[in-house]
Amino acid sequence: MPDFFNPFSGMVPDRKLTNDELIRAIRLDIAGELEAIHGYMAHAEATDNELAKAVLTDIANEERVHAGELQRLLAILAGEDEYQQKGKLEVDTVATEIGAADTAAPAPKEETTIGSLKNAKEA
Ligand SMILES: [Fe+2]
Repeated sequence: MPDFFNPFSGMVPDRKLTNDELIRAIRLDIAGELEAIHGYMAHAEATDNELAKAVLTDIANEERVHAGELQRLLAILAGEDEYQQKGKLEVDTVATEIGAADTAAPAPKEETTIGSLKNAKEA
């Protein structure tokens, strides 16, 4: 589990971040999003309460979007697009070599969310 230090300890620094500091902060933010996904999904999977499971999964999916936003921001700020693309290609290459399923990103599956629960109740 990541154990990043808190560079601000709850306080805003008395100056603006340098670009390198901002990049480190974004890495910490990404780790926080991934940790949140882990926690929400662990709790969702540990309960039989369907409402709690749906809410926790919906929140975890929102965190996944945040993680994607931050990863894209990091790629831009740190110039890491090339490395990220290389990593994705390496996984696709291994998947092809072992005959794994289609390496294209899976289509989003229809999941029960708070919005769909509201719509189902109104219908
Ligand atoms: Fe988030």
